[in-house]
Amino acid sequence: MQRFDVLIIGSGLAGIALALRLADQRKVAILTKQELISGASAWAQGGIAGVLSEGDSVDQHVQDTLVAGAGLCDEPMTRFIVERSRDAIHWLIQRGVPFTKDSASTLGYHLTREGGHSQRRIIHVDDATGWAVQQTLAAQVQAHPNITVFEHHIAVDLITSGKLGMREHRCLGAYALNNASGKVTTFAAQHTVLATGGAGKVYLYTTNPDSATGDGIAMGWRAGCRVANLEFIQFHPTCLYHPHAKSFLITEAVRGEGGVLRLPGEGGKPGERFMDKHDPRAELAPRDVVARAIDFEMKKRGLDCVYLDISHKPAEFLKGHFPNIYARCLELGIDITKQPIPVVPAAHYTCGGVMVDRRGRSDVANLYGIGEVTHTGLHGANRLASNSLLECLVFAQAAADDIVQQPDIACPDLPQWDESRVVDADEEIVIAHNWNELRHFMWDYVGIVRTNKRLQRAQHRIRLLFDEVHEYYANFRISNDLIELRNLLQTADLIVQCALLRHESRGLHYSRDYPHTLASSHNTVLTPARSSYAVPAPSGAG
Ligand code: FAD
Ligand code: SIN
Repeated sequence: MQRFDVLIIGSGLAGIALALRLADQRKVAILTKQELISGASAWAQGGIAGVLSEGDSVDQHVQDTLVAGAGLCDEPMTRFIVERSRDAIHWLIQRGVPFTKDSASTLGYHLTREGGHSQRRIIHVDDATGWAVQQTLAAQVQAHPNITVFEHHIAVDLITSGKLGMREHRCLGAYALNNASGKVTTFAAQHTVLATGGAGKVYLYTTNPDSATGDGIAMGWRAGCRVANLEFIQFHPTCLYHPHAKSFLITEAVRGEGGVLRLPGEGGKPGERFMDKHDPRAELAPRDVVARAIDFEMKKRGLDCVYLDISHKPAEFLKGHFPNIYARCLELGIDITKQPIPVVPAAHYTCGGVMVDRRGRSDVANLYGIGEVTHTGLHGANRLASNSLLECLVFAQAAADDIVQQPDIACPDLPQWDESRVVDADEEIVIAHNWNELRHFMWDYVGIVRTNKRLQRAQHRIRLLFDEVHEYYANFRISNDLIELRNLLQTADLIVQCALLRHESRGLHYSRDYPHTLASSHNTVLTPARSSYAVPAPSGAG
């Protein structure tokens, strides 16, 4: 058994920022199912939103967030986060993140613009912000003597005192499968933090990395945490459409810098613009509006994709601002300085998640959540672009501040995982098949436009698959893919439950059965049954 003061599950920006905030005062372990630099954070392109320029204000940033969030943002929470944006970004600057400079601005850094922002307020490192941030911070994590990183360790489940038959319900740590050795290690910790990111891999088409399988949402739910607003899955309007481009995003900053969306043209010529017919803000409308407009045009005209055109800008400007996108598109035979880019919407961000308060505390004592896995109230029914990296940074600090104020707690010895189970020869093929099935029907039935009938059909199929997967989980030796599929199914079920409960269309949730937006609305909150998390379970059967 391994013992730490704090166990952080996930090494995206939320996880590693928290580790660095804690490490001078606490012994910290980071579990990550891939390498240290992994998760959506490393793929972030556009940048980090914050109140940085003289012409901007906290009020304006808050207001833009509330407008994008379509009436469901928690205003005091939004203000709490936005007020801390300047300090959070300065922390990164002090740690050495090489943000793109602009000698013409008084700030000294270039600020870009994205949909829904009334100001240029997004600080970035060219078009590969996440990679630069993660590289800078990961080097400091590796150099810190109080942080131990366990790469290729996938957390299987949280260990709670309720499941061990103890009276008070609190989190004691987690089991993690070492993907290299195939063995499960027990991690005991005074505080455990879910920083596992989102659940984009529930869908067939996504901008997300393979790690985004909703593990933290599912683990939190099984441990007794409420979840909220999971019907609000954000579809990014512009994912590159090319047979050899798996999940490659074309940042919204391309539209922020003047890119326009077009239909296919005749004889290879650029086609007609269409966004201005859907919304007066055209290409810079919030994401839900742009993604739905593209979906509408594609379905109406039977198109495989639409086109994002920025070829009217000087080639040098494009190569300077979007070097990564320019190079990747060129590799695939698309010269963005001369041609429009084929794009489609794809699942991008999980706006809901495990409910936490301002300190990052979940419903279960000693269990925190930070980053995309959570529901803080910032994103409402639709996240404003570039607010999520900001949320990771602000909550890393808030959780760290809370954790270091807690007195030491004694951690009991925890039971080991049952390693005696055998491997089932059919498991791999069944898992691959079920995973494909799930991702296809989630795309078809729980996508950008929904109906009750399709949601119910999805729910029925999820539950059939879930029973099948549960049987493997309870009886055979576990594997990385089995753990992920179990979590994907759990998260998909929660997404559909939330969607079925919302009898209106709002933000990212559009239902043909309820096309109107109600005058007043509230968050969709799901509460796990106490009997499912607070009764003793046999070790290893979660
Ligand atoms: P992640 O960065 O996703 O990290 C999750 C970590 O948890 C990973 O290390 C993963 O391996 C680990 N993990 C998951 N499950 C387990 C488990 N069971 N056991 C152990 N480890 C586990 N937002 C912005 O604000 N600005 C942007 O410019 C921007 N661009 C984006 C571009 C792309 C292509 C994508 C996909 C997202 C973008 N976003 C952007 C959203 C933003 O990147 C994410 O919301 C944010 O990075 C989430 O950070 P996180 O730390 O919560 O999770
Ligand atoms: C992008 O660069 O378009 C992504 C920004 C975000 O998801 O916040």
